[in-house]
Amino acid sequence: MSEVTAIAHPNFALVKYWGKADSISNKPAMSSISLTVDSLTSTTNISINVGSTENIWMLNGKEQNDLARISPVLNYLNNISRNNYGCIIKSENNFLTSAGLASSASGIASLVIAYNQFFKLNMSFDQLVEASMIGSGSAPRSLLSGFVILNVEDQVTTRTILEPDEWPLSIIICITDEKEKIVSSREGMEISRKTSPLYQSWLDSNKEDIQIAKSAIAEKNLRRLGEVAEKNCYMMHEVMKTSSPKISYMTKSTNKCIKEIKKIRQDGTDLFFTVDAGPQVKIVCKTGDRDLIKTKFSNKSYITKIMEANIGLGARVIHED
Ligand code: DP6
Repeated sequence: MSEVTAIAHPNFALVKYWGKADSISNKPAMSSISLTVDSLTSTTNISINVGSTENIWMLNGKEQNDLARISPVLNYLNNISRNNYGCIIKSENNFLTSAGLASSASGIASLVIAYNQFFKLNMSFDQLVEASMIGSGSAPRSLLSGFVILNVEDQVTTRTILEPDEWPLSIIICITDEKEKIVSSREGMEISRKTSPLYQSWLDSNKEDIQIAKSAIAEKNLRRLGEVAEKNCYMMHEVMKTSSPKISYMTKSTNKCIKEIKKIRQDGTDLFFTVDAGPQVKIVCKTGDRDLIKTKFSNKSYITKIMEANIGLGARVIHED
């Protein structure tokens, strides 16, 4: 086989991970629940750098000088495959990279799936999770479809709790700023873990948030899920803001967007928001309400672009040659 291409979608967390238990395995310190989103994609092609031990990583057409993000993943995988050559990895995102849209999760998940197929490794799901997690703590969630839980309580377990067709929801992504973030999630969560006085209570509240979110998803109760997701999101951003140095991903535009979401909700439409390590706002709503909500944001000067998605599938191979 000369090459394999795999695709994965980013996932947006409703109960979030912000802080690691261990920086080598990259195991999160708390469990999380996310939604895989279908129209945003990372596509990764892998082939062998024949006769060389050098890995080459092209991201969105540009060769990367710093391979720190993918080298530990490749080392883990090379240990299983016993491959001694370098790999040529070409990844493309059809959406903004490093802007709070989870491009590392989808990028890493697509790499792991492509590698597994290329070397015919037949890795167990636990191994796929472990390899993805080394690259990004949120990446195992992009291996799977729908609502996904990444549970770290005893052992790490990752599973779909509701498939996309079981609850047809849509996601509207309000882009407020297209610049790459200055503080990466990796740096930011380490600063928070070490310095935020709220970090312990953030950890302590995780179990309850997971329980509420799980039961809201089981009931398909959008209002209840929205309440816990917004509370969890606000708390993560408080942890960031109380870190030293202070970390702020939300901007004035983010807040204007949230204000409009609350107004739409007051006017009787069910929807909720979440914001990650970037200024973009993700809205979750019933698919039937999507177009109406989109029109409310169509002429807002604080939004540069609106994207939409439904709940998506897990990472998968799309081509082999
Ligand atoms: C705010 O998974 O990108 O999106 O494990 O260091 O790669 P690393 O961090 P990453 O952090 C995600 C943070 C978040 C919340 C979430 O997705 O749960």
